[in-house]
Amino acid sequence: MSETRQAGQTGPRRCVVTGAAGFIGSHLAEALLAAGHRVVGIDCFTDYYDPAVKRRNVEPALASACFSLAEVDLRRDDLAPLVEGADVVFHLAAMPGLLRSWTDFDGYMTCNVQGTQRLLEALRQAGSPHLVHVSTSSVYGRDSSGDEDRMPAPISPYGVTKLAAEKLVLAYADIFDQPVTVLRYFSIFGPRQRPDMGYHIFIERILDGLPITVFGDGSQTRGNTFVDDCVAATLAAMEAGPSGQVFNVGGGEVVSVIDVLRLIEAITERKARIEHGPARPGEQQRALADTRKARAAFGWSPRTGIEAGLRAQVAWHLALRGEAPRG
Ligand SMILES: NC(=O)c1ccc[n+]([C@@H]2O[C@H](COP(=O)([O-])OP(=O)(O)OC[C@H]3O[C@@H](n4cnc5c(N)ncnc54)[C@H](O)[C@@H]3O)[C@@H](O)[C@H]2O)c1
Repeated sequence: MSETRQAGQTGPRRCVVTGAAGFIGSHLAEALLAAGHRVVGIDCFTDYYDPAVKRRNVEPALASACFSLAEVDLRRDDLAPLVEGADVVFHLAAMPGLLRSWTDFDGYMTCNVQGTQRLLEALRQAGSPHLVHVSTSSVYGRDSSGDEDRMPAPISPYGVTKLAAEKLVLAYADIFDQPVTVLRYFSIFGPRQRPDMGYHIFIERILDGLPITVFGDGSQTRGNTFVDDCVAATLAAMEAGPSGQVFNVGGGEVVSVIDVLRLIEAITERKARIEHGPARPGEQQRALADTRKARAAFGWSPRTGIEAGLRAQVAWHLALRGEAPRG
């Protein structure tokens, strides 16, 4: 490993962010730029949701002279020139979401597994820069409480493909000394949240006065993570350097779906029209992150409570509609 790739490196770094036009990747790219680093963003603008939304996500990063965007597909394009000379590669590109993974297995297999394998091969050719690989609490399955040693038992093709990707990354670390850090994100929210995600749907429908379907009884709980906290953990993982370890990254406050709806009602000053539907196959009943390991290794902890985070997300939805924040 070159000197510049050791933990404790200071000064501007050459970073690559895959999935840079996505919800989290676009925030990460901006945070890296704000910290003085150079960033190459990779994204192929999949149609999982409207690519125009992704173009809007990546606009602020594109305004920086230290950012460039490569519109390439991890499944088929030549990745070696993009990662050549990089100090750190953050791998966020993936097909996300549980539901579609039951009907588009090929898309999940190729983007999440094959795309990761092709990236790993490109990193080998590029002298093995530090890979910060983004995984998910969905690898745990029904219950993601407990620490990182809990046996993964995913119950959706999404979780299965993300677990396969994680295992592949750890295999390259073992066999080829690829320097890696694996982060398992837990339900991220905040401005730019994907349009298929719960809070995004809740806020839009409350603002439009439309009914909201709560799957199950709404008692399912989440330790949701504000996107800035998730980005801070990811930057802290870069600073700490490769450990070959897996870390949970999640918020500190546990809330039920119903609690969240009540908070959004209060923030938007609108009443939610709640209807109940059957529980969704593969949905976790509890997703609470045990983040002690990341706290100890990175000196990181989540800072944003659910109410402050929801206020920021609601303000973003209102801004897109040309409306001022309420309250
Ligand atoms: N959002 C969450 O709550 C959450 C929770 C846990 C883990 N994660 C993980 O975080 C990462 C980012 O998630 P997100 O919510 O920002 O999703 P997103 O869909 O907004 O971003 C992913 C981006 O990757 C790009 N992409 C997908 N396949 C690609 C390919 N083959 N080549 C190039 N680009 C490709 C997409 O176009 C998209 O812009 C994913 O790895 C996801 O599994 C997200």
